[in-house]
Amino acid sequence: MVILYFIFAFTCLLLFLFITFLSSLILRIFTGKSIGDPSYPPVKGTVFHQLLYFTKLYDHQTQIARETPTYRLLSPNHSSVYTCDAQNIEHVLKTKFSTYTKGAYNELIMGDTFGHGIFVVDGEKWRQQRKLASMEFSTRILRDFSCSVFRRNAAKLVKVVHEFSDSNCSFDMQDLLMRCTLDSIFKVGFGIELNCLEESSKSGLGFMKAFDESTALTYRRYVDPFWKVKRFLNVGSEASLRKYVKVINDFVDRLIRSKRKLLAGEKAGNDKEDILSRFLVESEKDPEQMNDKYLSDIILNFMIAGKDTSANTLSWFFYMLSKNPLIQEKVAQEVMDVVGLNHEANIDEFVADITDAALEQMHYLHATLTETLRLYPAVPLAGPRICLGKDFAYRQMKIVAMALLCFFRFELADETKNVTYRTMFTLHMDCSLTMLAVPRKSLNIS
Ligand code: HEM
Repeated sequence: MVILYFIFAFTCLLLFLFITFLSSLILRIFTGKSIGDPSYPPVKGTVFHQLLYFTKLYDHQTQIARETPTYRLLSPNHSSVYTCDAQNIEHVLKTKFSTYTKGAYNELIMGDTFGHGIFVVDGEKWRQQRKLASMEFSTRILRDFSCSVFRRNAAKLVKVVHEFSDSNCSFDMQDLLMRCTLDSIFKVGFGIELNCLEESSKSGLGFMKAFDESTALTYRRYVDPFWKVKRFLNVGSEASLRKYVKVINDFVDRLIRSKRKLLAGEKAGNDKEDILSRFLVESEKDPEQMNDKYLSDIILNFMIAGKDTSANTLSWFFYMLSKNPLIQEKVAQEVMDVVGLNHEANIDEFVADITDAALEQMHYLHATLTETLRLYPAVPLAGPRICLGKDFAYRQMKIVAMALLCFFRFELADETKNVTYRTMFTLHMDCSLTMLAVPRKSLNIS
């Protein structure tokens, strides 16, 4: 009897605490947000709506934007403005750029995973990283090095697809594109050959799993009103996030230490090719500020920026080309017209011919990639800044698309399958993209 009484009292206490917490949350969501003020964009939902529509969040937000192009969603102590109005976008990205920041709210949510990297910080820290990264991205060395990496990996991808095509087997295009761009970003970012298109590198793939899971879990914080409590108690999604962040930090720390050792043994100079080595050389000028933790944050932010975005866009691109075979033929024709392919040429010779000049001439391909980005934006919620890696991404996507379309015609293995996205920072397909590749030319792979 006494035990029952205690259970009853304990349940009542828990219920009381939960109701008090929920009421204070709701109060914090609706207070101090100028809800009725017509000079603010109208409120069209709260964090609870985002949670409710989580699996179709971008459809839900698009639906609201059709009726109200600029609106607000409320969270405790915070309100976010969403806009698809071209004038407002220009206002944020250009006209009044200096008045917009990522803000403390984003820093709080992303900081545990992405530290003080470019995606998270504002002010002087952002200016320093943006300036340094812009300089590095415009160097001839990085441009030539990245293009040679893209070409090499595109050729490897063609060879892998050829094996499937030869044996008349279907394959998961999204997975192959992910592996290909992952190999490229690892080589360009860290100078490391991951080779996940051909074989598995255990530590690299372990890092990638931790990276993918932690970005997905970090994203969930935007719609989970209880995440801070979970973090405090170290339970559920927050316990997993902590575990994955540790794996990431250990991996990147090891990488930076071994790179430092490697560079110490080499002669000084500014001819280093990968991004990490170039930042390490730069850090010698200001070792206190650019310590290992700061370098690790910088590198992780480049990974989140460049890893999935290009592969996701290419996946939607091939999906759309399979749905629109005439457009696929037009792109393939442009590849033949610009690069051509004589009968004896093999894939390695073909990719070597994808020069900067050839890339410049690929207008129709450029337009189809851009249309893909309009229909399936790889970063569905554009923050207040302009992408720094746009040219880099277009070059990579064009090289991969040209190599594949020159040698194969692509079809969906199942035309009736419904393809949609998984809600996270980037527009990842929620299932495999199973395709068949029909050869266009007899390949000489050797
Ligand atoms: C299709 C491919 C890509 C798309 C659609 C894309 C889109 C975007 C968007 C919308 C932003 C603004 C984010 C914000 O303000 O919160 C951004 C920022 C950024 N992107 Fe990209 N991106 C792509 C590829 C890349 C690649 C390949 C790299 C480099 C490896 C890159 C590097 C960056 C960086 C460093 C920023 C941060 C800029 C800053 O905060 O000043 N992006 N990107």
